[in-house]
Amino acid sequence: MKHPFLVGELVYLRPLQADDAELFAEWLNDTRVTRTLRARGPITVEAEREWIARVSADPSEFVCALVLRKGDRLIGSAGLHAIDWQARSASFGIKIGIPAMWGRGYGTEATRLVTDHAFRTLNLNRVGLQVHAGNVAGRRAYEKAGYRVEGIQREAVYREGRFGDLVLMAVLRSQWEAAAGADGKPRAAARAGPAARRGGGTAGAKGRRKR
Ligand SMILES: CC(C)(COP(=O)(O)OP(=O)(O)OC[C@H]1O[C@@H](n2cnc3c(N)ncnc32)[C@H](O)[C@@H]1OP(=O)(O)O)[C@@H](O)C(=O)NCCC(=O)NCCS
Repeated sequence: MKHPFLVGELVYLRPLQADDAELFAEWLNDTRVTRTLRARGPITVEAEREWIARVSADPSEFVCALVLRKGDRLIGSAGLHAIDWQARSASFGIKIGIPAMWGRGYGTEATRLVTDHAFRTLNLNRVGLQVHAGNVAGRRAYEKAGYRVEGIQREAVYREGRFGDLVLMAVLRSQWEAAAGADGKPRAAARAGPAARRGGGTAGAKGRRKR
């Protein structure tokens, strides 16, 4: 593992680095990946490099690279956006950019790692997200990580010639504590790296683009 920040059994999260931009741009120009994301191509490597620099400097963003423990392969990114330190809320986002890596449990574990970090270390009270109604894997991964449906935005997205619904989901600190936090053990068997134990984030800046 290289610079691990949050560690699960299958994947770990590390700080973003400028040269991740090359793969990020490749993925964000792939309609199989962007079909269920807000991001739309075409996106250049330079634009991705700028996005990485921006979110890494913004205290209201916590975005990490998502890496397989086996072979240290970069497969995506995951993190919290628009952190509101007064309301202690944030919005969760994740992408696994390689379709062959979907459905192997990596998304569920990464969601748990980030959500645990949000409550245990960042002391947030609420983490919300938006997911396309047709994104079955995403909805299931979030549900397994403790998120519950709060509502539906009807026909809020347009993809591939049709309108689709957006599902709003969230997890509250109280739910998370009742489910797993009360015993003091992380849900994802996470071992936080030294930076996490200090309470520091890897990222943070004006990046409002959600993934
Ligand atoms: C959404 C995403 C993060 C989910 O991560 P993942 O690693 O593929 O999901 P997991 O392997 O953890 O699976 C989660 C659950 O969904 C189920 N699942 C996965 N793919 C499925 C499919 N195509 N149909 C039905 N269920 C599916 C899994 O079986 C698992 O449930 P189970 O444990 O009860 O069996 C990932 O697929 C991805 O990044 N997709 C592209 C970008 C994206 O959509 N990002 C999220 C935007 S909100």
